[in-house]
Amino acid sequence: MKPTALALLMLATYTCANAEDIIISTDNTGLVYNIADNGRVYQKYFGKKLSNPSDYATIPNGPEIYITGGMEDYYEPALQINHADGNKSTLLTYTGHKTTTLPDGAQQTVISLTDKAYGDNVDVYFIAYPAQDIIKTYTVISNGENKPIEVEKYASSILHFANGDYYLTQFNGDWASEVNASETKLEYGKKQLDSKLGTRADMFCSPFFQLGLDSPADENSGELLVGTLGWTGNFRFTFEVDHKGELRVISGINPEASRRTLAKGESFTTPEFIFTLSDEGRGKASRNFHDWARNYQVYKGNDTRMTLLNNWEATYFDFDEEKLIKLIGEAKELGVDMFLLDDGWFANKYPRHSDTQGLGDWQETRDKLPNGIKALTEAAKKNGVKFGIWIEPEMVNPKSELYEQHKDWVITLPNRDEYYFRNQLVLDLSNPKVQDYVFSVVDNLMTKYPDIAFFKWDCNSPITNIYSNYEKMNQDHLYVDYVKGLYNVLERIQKKYPDLMMMMCSGGGGRSDYEGLKYFTEFWPSDNTDPIERLYIQWGYSQIFPVKTQCAHVTTWNNSTPVKFRTNVAMMGKLGFDIKLDDMSKEDADYCRRAIKNYNSFKPIILEGDQYRLVSPYEGNHAATMYVGKNDGDAVLFTFDIYPRYKQNISKSEAQVVMNGLNPKARYRVTETDRHDGNDQTIGEYSGEYLMTVGLPLFTLNRLNSRVFSIKKI
Ligand code: GLA
Repeated sequence: MKPTALALLMLATYTCANAEDIIISTDNTGLVYNIADNGRVYQKYFGKKLSNPSDYATIPNGPEIYITGGMEDYYEPALQINHADGNKSTLLTYTGHKTTTLPDGAQQTVISLTDKAYGDNVDVYFIAYPAQDIIKTYTVISNGENKPIEVEKYASSILHFANGDYYLTQFNGDWASEVNASETKLEYGKKQLDSKLGTRADMFCSPFFQLGLDSPADENSGELLVGTLGWTGNFRFTFEVDHKGELRVISGINPEASRRTLAKGESFTTPEFIFTLSDEGRGKASRNFHDWARNYQVYKGNDTRMTLLNNWEATYFDFDEEKLIKLIGEAKELGVDMFLLDDGWFANKYPRHSDTQGLGDWQETRDKLPNGIKALTEAAKKNGVKFGIWIEPEMVNPKSELYEQHKDWVITLPNRDEYYFRNQLVLDLSNPKVQDYVFSVVDNLMTKYPDIAFFKWDCNSPITNIYSNYEKMNQDHLYVDYVKGLYNVLERIQKKYPDLMMMMCSGGGGRSDYEGLKYFTEFWPSDNTDPIERLYIQWGYSQIFPVKTQCAHVTTWNNSTPVKFRTNVAMMGKLGFDIKLDDMSKEDADYCRRAIKNYNSFKPIILEGDQYRLVSPYEGNHAATMYVGKNDGDAVLFTFDIYPRYKQNISKSEAQVVMNGLNPKARYRVTETDRHDGNDQTIGEYSGEYLMTVGLPLFTLNRLNSRVFSIKKI
């Protein structure tokens, strides 16, 4: 049989032992390992790619590729194995490597290592996306012994740096105040960012970081590493500076309470650590991630997204069929693509009238919805909008029929009183029967109501009362196998319902990671929809996630801000509304309708273009972000005057918004659009060079003022 083009691409290039350097590279980054004479593999270079690969030859070797515990290294290892004979040491030597071009064009390099004394094997994978300067890395650890081994630590990645100084930016917070950025200089010793929350894993700390090398990271200059773990569960990043001032960055699943036992012949695959090295600051690093995510990672990453009307803040639990059908009519009137029904539609023995009961019983509440979901999908169809629905299928309220019938499916301690987070408990997704049940929540709804186009998949509790009642369970495996069980369910859903779009929600940003986004088209960054807070929250998430994945809704949180301000903030993400048209003045409602039209016309630029963060809300009373269409396209600029001081003297330079990402040689017409009065206003015509060097005085002293500018090539 003749090999196909794809099969030819998949042919591996084998390189045998004693090859000198193994070079992993993207268009701008080189990561080089060397096979030393002692058979061990060392990181020798990680930095700007050198155009002549032979130039790497003279660089001396640095630390080992995957540092093992129990040997001559005195700091944190990437791998710690407890062998069956009680020995805790591992020593890895090179057995081979291969480079392959994957069907999506990425370059995969696998470096294989073995412990000759015990026979255990580690394959270190690198997958490089040249044009986006993104590299993914993970390991496969295999037990080559005759007895089970315990893997105590099993990082996805360890990277080494020998710079003068290191500045770590972390993103942490709490419910409704997610992803606050703060930067610290790393000194001797260890700093860890981690989560032990299990399910709502990112509630306190987001699974990504930025690391300024030599100097603090800047928006448009400076060298920095940006990394994230694709894992919808407990993660840990360890930054350790040693006595020589060298730094190691170890990323992976949090091994806390998660020691892994591997039977003879068994392997464990760690999640992907995804990173980029930018020498043009945070902005470039973000755009690398955005491009890669849209093209290779996020589900339906290159498709557009639906605007929507959600009923959560419009009604909370207080609704019935009539109210919902009225809201579906309002969705049409507003001009959004979809109506999304939130929490409160299900359960009969313990109807879901509040968050105290009903979770687990996914049948429509009869007195609220006597004609079922069907009446709603039909109303949506009649109004020409799509229909979406909220579920929280991994959870159960103790006040539910599911809990009464299947306590064995619940993660709970058999010998202690239960304690509850948001009155609920987590179902045990390590149990295949529970996986089937969670799958059936979506499958039953889709079978009965095939017109459902979207799910908001919520997850409002961390794993509490940690104990699996599944008879086959090794308790140390629960945190990890839970996440694997979740992926198994999501995989089945995606396979059976490939057109479904889904929002990953976890009481706000409790889930926000790239492995989750393989199954979800978007996520809910925060329950906090106060537009001022959202300026910060969206600024934070945009460091790593493209705006099309960030749901942003106009609500009544902080409704002392004009509806235009709230809408403009939400237009910088995936726009939705969670508001009653009836509660708005006619002028505001008219404005919203026009804003949705404007947003639709800007969608290709905002959702698919390049994002440039211009003025940070962290720096003062103003903020500005712009989006430039791909291939030298037109741009859209959003400016915000948050809370300028009374009679503050706004200096010329403070008022100035200096743009970015335009073609310096092109000329642009700048128009203020999306005004509350509906009348666009021409600002002028300028060269790209002028707009990016001098800029325009677009900030004002008006409090809670927002402006949108269309920047069109002429
Ligand atoms: C979570 C979500 C909200 C809403 C409620 C419903 O808090 O983040 O958007 O769906 O649950 O209970």
